Amino acid sequence: MSKEQPVILITGTSTGFGREAVHQYAAAGYTVIATMRNLAKADPSFKDNPNIDLAKLDITDKENATALVAKVVAKYGHLDVLYNNAGYNESGAFEEVADDAARREMETNFWGPVNMIRAVLPIMRQQHHGHILNTSSMAAYLNLPLMTFYSASKAAVTSMSDTLHKEVSGLGIQVTDIEPGGFNTNFGVNSKLPAHQLPDYAPVYQRSAEFNARVFIEAGLGDLKKAVALIVRETLNPDAPLHLVVGMQGYDDARAYLEQLIGEYDGQVELTKTTDPEPDEVNVFKYIYQHAAAGKQAQLKELLVQDIMKFQTNGKIADADLLAVMQLVAPDAQQDVQQRLVTTIHGAN
Ligand SMILES: NC(=O)c1ccc[n+]([C@@H]2O[C@H](COP(=O)([O-])OP(=O)(O)OC[C@H]3O[C@@H](n4cnc5c(N)ncnc54)[C@H](OP(=O)(O)O)[C@@H]3O)[C@@H](O)[C@H]2O)c1
Repeated sequence: MSKEQPVILITGTSTGFGREAVHQYAAAGYTVIATMRNLAKADPSFKDNPNIDLAKLDITDKENATALVAKVVAKYGHLDVLYNNAGYNESGAFEEVADDAARREMETNFWGPVNMIRAVLPIMRQQHHGHILNTSSMAAYLNLPLMTFYSASKAAVTSMSDTLHKEVSGLGIQVTDIEPGGFNTNFGVNSKLPAHQLPDYAPVYQRSAEFNARVFIEAGLGDLKKAVALIVRETLNPDAPLHLVVGMQGYDDARAYLEQLIGEYDGQVELTKTTDPEPDEVNVFKYIYQHAAAGKQAQLKELLVQDIMKFQTNGKIADADLLAVMQLVAPDAQQDVQQRLVTTIHGAN
């Protein structure tokens, strides 16, 4: 972490999680860049706090995002945390949500964080340090009816967080996917309803209302201040989880979904194995590896990895590279294997 006061940029701070986060990070000693698309909505107390810097930002506007991040870095010299918080819900059954509404949902909930991450990654790579907090939702696992596009947008965020983590953790950059259950914010009033409802989906609305009653009313909504305190606690914590579960609302249902998924995978192993190659047409790389000259396996593996990397970066592997691999293969298998390898790779080129 930077020796100076850490700098955090938070999106969507006019209400809810974002507004509460501004207060708590500022109190925790961060310099907070509190962003929102309409500055008139800012909590009046933000202006009097020396730890808070207000900035206008619509996350769907890539130029706005890039320019703001550049400005922050020019002013403070570093940016330690990006908290992708802004988001909303386009509700309605799949058929009821018009294309433009579904696209707007993805533009905000998925492409908004993409815009922000693209803006901060070069800085964080250069710093060799940073923490990206992406707000997903338990809906990414609950896959809630009447929230198809919201759930899909959050599942996309979670998937992006998982992959990004694998790419950047070696560069000193942490990623945490925040997965809240249910909290009392402006989320409900900011949810968009479909222009037309189809009567055929009345039973789905009924089931959805029952689910919401069970999860959010019976179990009670979570405590927003405590939820944000948990997020603040995990920020810049080197041991922060990749998936930060925030709140118990929907937890059992999300867990049941994950177990069901494992069950479906396990239940299909025998069937899916039928797509494996026949033993005599096994993967040529595996074949070479298994037939490598005694004691040369590690070297051969290294060469194969290098070849695959070359294939990934320019789509080609030169014959000379293949021959280098061949030189390590047992002479009796050489001709046969060489032919198969060249055919396989050139076939894929
Ligand atoms: N509350 C929950 O139970 C819950 C559960 C799971 C996940 N979440 C997620 O938590 C995050 C925060 O939501 P919340 O519950 O705090 O709801 P909220 O009170 O409605 O806050 C959402 C914030 O996002 C902002 N926003 C929306 N579109 C934007 C855009 N294009 N550019 C910039 N800001 C934009 C809103 O700004 P405006 O005031 O300008 O509209 C608002 O500040 C969201 O990503 C939400 O999906 C919430």
